Amino acid sequence: MSQPAPPSLAVLISGRGSNLQAFIDACDAGQLPARITLVISNNPAAAGLQRAERAGIATLSIDHRDYPSREAFDQALVDALHSSDIDLVILAGFMRILTPVLIKPYLGRLLNIHPSLLPKYPGLKTHQRALDAGDTEAGATVHFVTQELDGGPPVLQVRVPIERGDTADSLAARVAVQEHAIYPLAARWLAEGRLALHDGGATLDGQPLPATGIDYTGGMSD
Ligand code: GRF
Repeated sequence: MSQPAPPSLAVLISGRGSNLQAFIDACDAGQLPARITLVISNNPAAAGLQRAERAGIATLSIDHRDYPSREAFDQALVDALHSSDIDLVILAGFMRILTPVLIKPYLGRLLNIHPSLLPKYPGLKTHQRALDAGDTEAGATVHFVTQELDGGPPVLQVRVPIERGDTADSLAARVAVQEHAIYPLAARWLAEGRLALHDGGATLDGQPLPATGIDYTGGMSD
């Protein structure tokens, strides 16, 4: 019997694309049963576009400044995703607030990674805010994207200790290493049909996930 085709993924970026690279590497290593078919950037100068080109992935720059509203920009994204028959959408450092125009058609098929221990520190400058608050740990959270900014159901979360002398940059660098582990893993579950959004909550293999997602800290055996 022939295997079903692996789902087709689009990765949306705005910057350096280190998470995109983690996805490319995971696909190459056979750890993510999906094809990255398209990389879209709202920023034509995003370094991540070159990573995609090096990997032979089609790229598209859709500059939000060319559109009169967030909705019009999102419609352009949706049109591009539809024309490439995209199944799953991965936001990887995509610095635009999305509207229902994009969120609705991809609800349950749309993931984001946020560099904090959600629900702490939605929004920007997360590492600096954790340092300013005197927190002892920071981290990252993969979550489903819903209408609420950085507020969709968490899937996977990793905690990273804050060290004496940490700056926002040093902390971000250590968190990024962990982001590159958890994000392709969550996407793998989605690609395998194990992860779902049900009645507003995330489930894995039909089981509801904890409110802050599965704790990946220290790795996972699965
Ligand atoms: C990451 O820190 C991610 O958590 C946040 O944006 C950053 C993107 O980095 N959403 P990169 O472009 O993947 O290197």
